[in-house]
Amino acid sequence: MNFELKTLDLASATSLPCDALVVLLPAHFKPGKDALSTLAAQALKAGDLETKPAKLLSLYRPAGIQSARVLLVGAGEGSAKQVRQALTAAIGAVRAGAGVVKKLVVCFAGPASDAAVRAAVTAVADASYVYTTTKSKPEGRTIQRVIVGVAQTAAVKAAFQRAAAAVAGIEMAKEWANRPANHATPTMLAQAARSLSRLPKISCKVLGLRDVAKLDMGAFMAVAQGSQEQLRFIVLEYSGAAKAHAPTVLVGKGITFDTGGISIKPAAEMDEMKFDMSGAASVLGVFRALGELKPAINVVGLIPACENMPDGRAIKPGDVVTSMSGQTIEILNTDAEGRLVLCDALTYAERFKPRAVVDIATLTGACMIALGNVRSGMFTASEDLAKQLQAASESSQDLCWRMPLDEEYAEGLKSNFADVANVAGRAGGAITAAKFLQRFVDKFPWAHLDIAGTAWKSGAAKGATGRPVGLLLDFLLAEPAKAPSAATKAAVRKRGLKA
Ligand code: BES
Ligand code: MN
Ligand code: ZN
Repeated sequence: MNFELKTLDLASATSLPCDALVVLLPAHFKPGKDALSTLAAQALKAGDLETKPAKLLSLYRPAGIQSARVLLVGAGEGSAKQVRQALTAAIGAVRAGAGVVKKLVVCFAGPASDAAVRAAVTAVADASYVYTTTKSKPEGRTIQRVIVGVAQTAAVKAAFQRAAAAVAGIEMAKEWANRPANHATPTMLAQAARSLSRLPKISCKVLGLRDVAKLDMGAFMAVAQGSQEQLRFIVLEYSGAAKAHAPTVLVGKGITFDTGGISIKPAAEMDEMKFDMSGAASVLGVFRALGELKPAINVVGLIPACENMPDGRAIKPGDVVTSMSGQTIEILNTDAEGRLVLCDALTYAERFKPRAVVDIATLTGACMIALGNVRSGMFTASEDLAKQLQAASESSQDLCWRMPLDEEYAEGLKSNFADVANVAGRAGGAITAAKFLQRFVDKFPWAHLDIAGTAWKSGAAKGATGRPVGLLLDFLLAEPAKAPSAATKAAVRKRGLKA
């Protein structure tokens, strides 16, 4: 989809040729003398429209307006959330109609914040997305071109650019998460990662079984051993800053299908376990966006990818394996496989001497019970990372919520036969999973995002959400500027410049 930013008021929107025109009406709407303003003012006065978010009035060929279809929609106070609500409703109405809308104009009837413009772009993309890859007669997205009309400021322009890149990343994440497991094997995921290295400043390396065996990734290999599909360990690097600049490492859980293994899952809704690589998909999506935005930072993406299957060679409850860190793990439940593949990836992350490591995983059904599908679970012992992630979550409207990591939660992970067990009791399952991971992160600041409830939707609208690509991008792009090193300061002094 192609987004374009234009300086547009209602008067100029009236004469713009397009298939559908969506007008966002704020609570304090000040009508001008043009045909659109007059219409909107009349509808509001007559009580046929309200400026409450998502209140909608559809018109066909209204006099004096170029667009055949006009949708007036309330946008409340114009917050990012309200703009998203308004446009989700408006695009829903456009899609419900029989006509074909290719060119869409979204016009703010008043000033708009950069956050609102960003929300407009991501909401239109989200509401118009269509998955087609495995359909024989794909009916793709009809909306091809979107013009966002608003008074342009530098902040609005920057927000628009970032949002358009985020959309490309979010849609890549959706695409890979949506693909069925036989169309998104570890090998195919690795191929998708490799293709990202065509973008500027991105390189990709893929490790196979022999390589991870050499690295002693005993926990990761244990999960993969029940599957006919070969495992892959994907290493992506985005180098936008000097080598000395410590990278942020993103680790994405890449279980391309989770049957539970020998501790097999019930049949109902098991198909949804194709989404168990949504963390990995979000890492791919972030790199897609980085390749477009080219920020001056360094980022590493790590994806342990494999299937979790029951088989004659599969791990059994009670098996003890040795992780790359040297810690032995008693696998009491083969369905707690995410933490097993992640722990070795976290140990591997040490070699990058990262400023921070964030793992992203559809890790526990318990997180879904705790937070539903509104907020992802965020776990970290670092106040700094917590603040940064919370801020990114608000600015991107890709929400998360901090969860506790008290030492008492680790109690249940004790094992009589290994250093640690891979499960504790049912209570606090999202937290005990995070406590397991925390045993592998003593070398760097770390945060864990449990996206079990937010990565996809179930039911009639079943499909990936592309979360938390938006959150991760805002987190990365807001990387706190590093204090200049002593060497830089000395060089600056020598040249008689101001630091
Ligand atoms: N991939 C699942 C978590 C999951 C389940 C996410 C349902 C979304 C919906 C994970 O591998 C898993 O099976 N976790 C177990 C852990 C348990 C065995 C301690 C779970 O949540 O039941
Ligand atoms: Mn599982
Ligand atoms: Zn899983």
